[in-house]
Amino acid sequence: MLSKVWSAATCGIDAVRITIEVDAAQSEQPGFILVGLPDAAVREAYSRVRSALHNCGFWLPPRRITVNLSPADVKKEGSGFDLPIALGILHATEFLHDEQISGRVFVGELSLDGTVAPVRGTLSISAALSRDAAVRELIVPAANANEAAAVRSVRVVGAPHLPRLLQHLKGETPIEPAASGTTPEVALDGADFCDVRGQAQAKRALEVAAAGGHNVLMIGPPGSGKTMLAKRLPSILPRLSLEESIVTTKIHSVAGTLPAGSGLLARRPFRAPHHTISTAGLVGGGTPPRPGEVSLAHHGVLFLDELAEFRRDTLEVLRQPMEDGIVTIGRVLRTVTFPSRFTLAGALNPCPCGFFNDARHECICSTIQIARYLAKISGPLLDRIDLQVEVPALTPEEISSTTAGESSALIRERVEAARQIQRERFRRASIQSNAEMSTRHMRRYCELGPSSRRLLEHAVARLGLSARGYDRLLKVARTIADLAACERLNSAHVAEAVHYRALDKAYFRAG
Ligand SMILES: Nc1ncnc2c1ncn2[C@@H]1O[C@H](COP(=O)(O)OP(=O)(O)O)[C@@H](O)[C@H]1O
Ligand SMILES: [Mg+2]
Ligand SMILES: [Zn+2]
Repeated sequence: MLSKVWSAATCGIDAVRITIEVDAAQSEQPGFILVGLPDAAVREAYSRVRSALHNCGFWLPPRRITVNLSPADVKKEGSGFDLPIALGILHATEFLHDEQISGRVFVGELSLDGTVAPVRGTLSISAALSRDAAVRELIVPAANANEAAAVRSVRVVGAPHLPRLLQHLKGETPIEPAASGTTPEVALDGADFCDVRGQAQAKRALEVAAAGGHNVLMIGPPGSGKTMLAKRLPSILPRLSLEESIVTTKIHSVAGTLPAGSGLLARRPFRAPHHTISTAGLVGGGTPPRPGEVSLAHHGVLFLDELAEFRRDTLEVLRQPMEDGIVTIGRVLRTVTFPSRFTLAGALNPCPCGFFNDARHECICSTIQIARYLAKISGPLLDRIDLQVEVPALTPEEISSTTAGESSALIRERVEAARQIQRERFRRASIQSNAEMSTRHMRRYCELGPSSRRLLEHAVARLGLSARGYDRLLKVARTIADLAACERLNSAHVAEAVHYRALDKAYFRAG
């Protein structure tokens, strides 16, 4: 008898419904044949399925079982087909009836003892099926139920193990559908700006970065608080919208980095890959293609600590994802695209020993060593970083200070207000933030009066800025004005923006 069971396959962060056909034919030669573009994990399915069925007390008649995953042109990957294959076999051998499987979509890996183990991508699957009127129920591993039910979608049922699921399918003891939560719960992880002592200028630079969508580089000696500051950047970025949360959660689900049992992500991601990371780890890759750090940081922060330690070619591959906001991972037969829109935060020691320009330590580096060290990050990457700020060592008074700094919540309010101004400004444009402005936008929205123009021209000459450096200054000035709710740019805004060219001022003569 031929059986058809629905399942779903993910592709990037999207998914499609597929059909699994199982034929269990009387045959002199019992065995198992799997067709329809399966990858290695799918091919291993049968041994898992057979053990699971066996350990749950099903004696299978000796048949030749053929499993076909269709449509054939959809690449099927992963272990999520164990469950529908098992149910297909049970249906084909008449342990289950038509109405018990029809209209239902099944995904899940089977452990040898029949436990339904979690799989990746169930949020993408439930989101895709919400447009599918033929589907009445989605059955996922119990550990994925919250995630799959996070978008208002089909009915989601979480299956703990195969025998329990069979009771549900037969209507003996139904499993309660998972409650759908449409708002990401507010999560607090304790990283708040009020913990940071001193560093007023760095905090302000991060506020400007958050307000205008700018990338930021912090330069300072070891122990001054660069990592601490960067970790707190997500806490002042605008709150995640529902749509943003869904996309980010999908990416983490597909990557397998979503904590077990979690629903929608409530916090913007903070990713801090080590400088030894591979190119594929950074931008994504592999079989099946998995998102890299640039996508895991989507709608959040990508923090590159010790920026000068990264290999040049590693930094080079960041350029395209940063430029396009998406990254395409190409493979022989097809390509997969993942979103990659993040705020880049970098940290850098000012020189190899770390103490160049430090008041209390002597720098032991030669000028040539310093130049070579900084040369690594100049060029394309630095071109995309609007703010460069110094994070000097704390003074003894700052270290012993007990006054709490401003909280992240307060800073975020100002950030949100500045973002609101930008949303209004760009409502007819296809951009969201000042950082994304083109020359045309700048001409329109960054008009300068005579005195601020003179100030800017003077700074450009003094810092030896290129046209691009000039543009970055202007964008930052625009954000500073937005934080002050000023429609027109004035000299104070421009002067503060000039302040955030620490690297140009200290070391480089090009921007
Ligand atoms: N400005 C600061 N305010 C409060 N604590 C700080 C500050 N700077 C450094 N620290 C303390 O020193 C530790 C090391 O700081 P870190 O952020 O790792 O420095 P960096 O990244 O600049 O080397 C932090 O975990 C924190 O406990
Ligand atoms: Mg650090
Ligand atoms: Zn040094």
